[in-house]
Amino acid sequence: MSFPVILAIESSCDDTSAAVMAGGEILANVVATQQVHEQYGGVVPELASRAHQQHLIPVVTEALRRAKVEKSDLDAVAFTQGPGLLGSLLVGGMFAKSFALALNKPLIAVNHMRAHILAHFIRPPRPVFPFLCLTVSGGHTQLVVVRSPMDMEVVGQTIDDAAGEAFDKTAKLLGLPYPGGPHLDRQAREGNPTRFPFPVGAMPGYDFSFSGLKTSVLYFLRQQTAQNPDFIAQNLSDLCAGIQHTIIQTLLRQLVRAATDLGLTQIALAGGVAANSGLRTALQNLAGEKGWEVFIPDFEFCTDNAAMVAMTGHFQFEAGDFATQLVSPDPRLKLS
Ligand code: KG4
Ligand code: ZN
Repeated sequence: MSFPVILAIESSCDDTSAAVMAGGEILANVVATQQVHEQYGGVVPELASRAHQQHLIPVVTEALRRAKVEKSDLDAVAFTQGPGLLGSLLVGGMFAKSFALALNKPLIAVNHMRAHILAHFIRPPRPVFPFLCLTVSGGHTQLVVVRSPMDMEVVGQTIDDAAGEAFDKTAKLLGLPYPGGPHLDRQAREGNPTRFPFPVGAMPGYDFSFSGLKTSVLYFLRQQTAQNPDFIAQNLSDLCAGIQHTIIQTLLRQLVRAATDLGLTQIALAGGVAANSGLRTALQNLAGEKGWEVFIPDFEFCTDNAAMVAMTGHFQFEAGDFATQLVSPDPRLKLS
């Protein structure tokens, strides 16, 4: 089996995942998504930690079985150190530390945001360094200049909500189930994106802001439903298309500015919101216009998964970047 063989654990939010990688090739990637949060319309941290405790051992066992790897074959154990929910990180982190200690294998502490970006290296086509990555998920929105697997610089980020939160919170205002992003995306395909214009969060530099959009949707819906209680149901597709269009414009405005100023033409998209059909189309159109090469990983590697943690662990293994047993999960871990 190719060297090194790495077991990776991801537990930063509400997905429990384990992956096995050998020599940079992914052999298994098992993800248990927690359904318990749907009824609350958002992730409940305490329930997430408890569900990780239930899922972790079965998920790890299944990943090793699918990869046909014995515990004794492992060369290292990688885990997500942060950022994320503290309780969730603790469950995965404690498991990884105990497992590595019991097997007498080295431990690798991985930054979750770095892992989202390095998901681009799991399968071809792979971007060439340096590239600009827009990471858009339920918890984060960042523009990152990536010079090498270990050399990344955050040049812009959200000052309030993440792009995924903007999708989920506005979808909730429209009465769509949680998480609302995929539902809003589906509805938007039938709608007119310009009938209901909402404000594009225009920040200086390369930062993002989505709280103005959420407030403006809230007030607009209040006003309209006071006159017509069926307003949302009668205009759902156009409302979704208008909201989605605004989120995409907010993201692409800053992406274009950063790429132009920094002279970068290799553009990568990462995180769960990369699944959005409108964003993918708009980005492909921009690529044609600007002469960019655009990279979007397979969907299973865009949402939270341990394969991206294994990929990052692989690069850290090569760089000799190991952690000690004293390493602690860090909910606010920074990328640069
Ligand atoms: O990366 P991810 O799985 O988890 C975090 O690390 O947060 O991202 C989840 C986010 C959720 O906000 C979800 O609504 C959003 O990605 N999402 C989408 C779509 N699919 C997932 N947002 C818009 N359109 C989609 N098709
Ligand atoms: Zn994530």
